[in-house]
Amino acid sequence: MACKRGALIVLEGVDKAGKTTQSKKLLQALQQGGRAVEVLRFPDRTTTIGQLISAYLEKKSELEDHTVHLLFSANRWELVPLMKKKLEQGTTLIVDRYAFSGAAFTSAKPGFSLDWCKKTDEGLPKPDLVMFLQLSPAEAALRGQFGEERYETNVFQRAVQQKFEQLIKDPSVNWQVIDASKSVEDVHKDIKTHSINAINIAQNLPLGELWK
Ligand code: TMP
Repeated sequence: MACKRGALIVLEGVDKAGKTTQSKKLLQALQQGGRAVEVLRFPDRTTTIGQLISAYLEKKSELEDHTVHLLFSANRWELVPLMKKKLEQGTTLIVDRYAFSGAAFTSAKPGFSLDWCKKTDEGLPKPDLVMFLQLSPAEAALRGQFGEERYETNVFQRAVQQKFEQLIKDPSVNWQVIDASKSVEDVHKDIKTHSINAINIAQNLPLGELWK
C-alpha cells in the first residue's frame, strides 16, 4: 500500500507572536504521538541564497527591494524538491514562516502591490493548514523590545500586520487564526488540535499548488 503523505503545516504571524516556540512544541508533541515530523524555517539561512538574505537582514549588506523579495522566494523554491520528497514519504512538515511572510513583508514597503508580491510564490506546495498567531502591536510590545534586524520596528510591523489581515481573507487557503495572547500551553493546545485535524485530512488528499 502506498504510504500516506505528510501534511504541510505553516505558522505565520508578526514578530514576537511565538512562532518559533510553538513550532518546537508542536514538533515535540507530534513526535511523542509517534508521527514522522520535521521543522523547516524560512528564510533558510544555511543555503547560498539564504546567506545573502541573512546578511541583508543583519544590515551587513544592502539589496534593492525587488531583488530581496525574489531572493526570499527563491529560497523557498530551492527547498521545494526536498519538501515534496519528505511529504510524499509521509513526513509532516511544520514550517516557521512561508510565502505569506514573503508577501506581507514586501508589500508593506512603499510601491509594492500584494498581487505582485504573491506572483513569485505562485505554485509552491500549498499548505494544508496555515495558522496565523494573532497578537496586537500593544501585546507584542509587552513581550519586550524588538531585535536589531531589519524590519524590527513598531511602524513596519504594524504595516505587515495589515497585509497579513488582507491575506487571511483569501478563502483558497486554509487559515486558522490563533489567539497568541494566551499562555504558551493554551496556544500550544489550539495549535496541536488544528494540526492533528489537518494531518488526518491531508493524508487522503493530493498536495495542492499555492495561489493557483
Ligand atoms: P526570522 O526572524 O523568522 O528569521 O525572519 C527573518 C525576517 O525576514 C523577518 O523579519 C521576516 C522577514 N521575511 C521576509 O521579509 N520575507 C520572507 O519571505 C520571509 C520568509 C521572511
